[in-house]
Amino acid sequence: MAKKLYIQTYGCQMNVYDSARIADVMAEAGYDVVDAADQADLIILNTCHIREKAAEKVYSELGRLRRLRRPGAASGPLLAVAGCVAQAEGGEMISRAPFLDVVVGPQAYHRLPELVAQAEGATGKAVDTAFPAKSKFDALPDPHVDGRRGAFLTVQEGCDRFCTFCVVPYTRGAEYSRPVVQVLREAQRYAGVGVVEITLLGQNVNAYHGPGPDGAEWRLGRLIRAVAAIDGIARVRYTTSYPADHDDDLIAAHGEVTELMPYLHLPVQSGSDRILKAMNRRQTAASYLRLVERLRAVRPDLALSSDFIVGFPGETEADFAATLRLVEEVGFAQAYSFKYSPRPGTPAADAAQLPEAVKTERLAVLQCLLDRQQRAFNDACVGRVLPVLIDGDGRKPGQRVGRSPYLQAVHLPAPASLLGKITDVRIVSAGGNSLAGVLAEQGTVATAAEVPG
Ligand code: SAH
Ligand code: F3S
Repeated sequence: MAKKLYIQTYGCQMNVYDSARIADVMAEAGYDVVDAADQADLIILNTCHIREKAAEKVYSELGRLRRLRRPGAASGPLLAVAGCVAQAEGGEMISRAPFLDVVVGPQAYHRLPELVAQAEGATGKAVDTAFPAKSKFDALPDPHVDGRRGAFLTVQEGCDRFCTFCVVPYTRGAEYSRPVVQVLREAQRYAGVGVVEITLLGQNVNAYHGPGPDGAEWRLGRLIRAVAAIDGIARVRYTTSYPADHDDDLIAAHGEVTELMPYLHLPVQSGSDRILKAMNRRQTAASYLRLVERLRAVRPDLALSSDFIVGFPGETEADFAATLRLVEEVGFAQAYSFKYSPRPGTPAADAAQLPEAVKTERLAVLQCLLDRQQRAFNDACVGRVLPVLIDGDGRKPGQRVGRSPYLQAVHLPAPASLLGKITDVRIVSAGGNSLAGVLAEQGTVATAAEVPG
């Protein structure tokens, strides 16, 4: 009988992708994925280390899961920690949580079947935090695809940019681009089973420079064109970008590739040149605005999303005001903002820190502005007809949920036969986080789905 695997995923989309690939690897070792921890023979926490308290949360979750071990039984579910906390803490984790069986870093999870076997054996523990991304991708089995309409596809991993706040270069290692042929084969496999939207993933995805079949180095713009040309792929997205790595061809692709969706996550972090320099972002507020202008020149309806850090060491009121000015100037459709969180081992962690109250206050002010912009962007969609990829059921019978080109969730009444299809939807109302609409051919029949929350 197949053994049962439960995976809990934290953090970014790349972890979501990695968890799916972990399931592929473990399927070959005879494990089926289940959706409840208490039914599992093996529990894997795929962890995130980007901001503080990540490790603490993992230890408390482990403590909770430990209780699933039947009292007195020699075996219970095996417990494994994967992802960036595993990479950062390594074997230390087993000293702190001696009941933990396996610790595996993000570049070593293709070895999980061996590690699990090792943990089941005499030594009882297995740790692997080896690094090269290449060997992982070469060793992974083909991805299992299960009727999803949208798929993530990691094309680039790791980062060489060393922003002074960021742990990624330490937890994910040096920048690595997968070969073009490998990426296209995976994309074709998705397309072959009905996937219509592919999101190309990388920690710094626009640094992509994979070897092409023609012997040349391909950059991201060229890769996007090739993925968009695959039969059945109607939508392409990519995330996350480092603005200073946006080259001319990638900008041009936004104007030329109709499958490339008019929505871009382009983290700016701060609007103050002094802080950007201290963050080692290799960009100024002006160069960011210039990039936005060039992108909008080729794709006027481009919606932008971003990441912000408030309370970076040394940030003054004037620096923060510059961030607010930049936000006003760009007008974001969506955004994430965070208080600066010192990460051990990164350069900014050693600098004098701002008081927590200052960070809290600035975050509230920034989020208020960003929420207002998101609301305005959503409101401006009301009355428009948008092509929506209908990809799931809503909460009520007859209700479906889809995605607009701008990545907004759209709720609407629609037959199940439209699942997986891109359909014109007239937007009839907007909420802070989602839209509601009706099928466009029904005109403005007043049966719109409610916007939840
Ligand atoms: N390469 C990606 C991933 C960075 S992590 C990128 O450039 O976006 C995602 C976001 O988390 C970052 O953009 C940043 O805004 C935030 N972040 C990263 N480290 C942080 C830290 N130490 N404190 C607070 N926010 C942080
Ligand atoms: Fe982190 Fe900066 Fe790279 S945010 S992932 S070091 S581009």
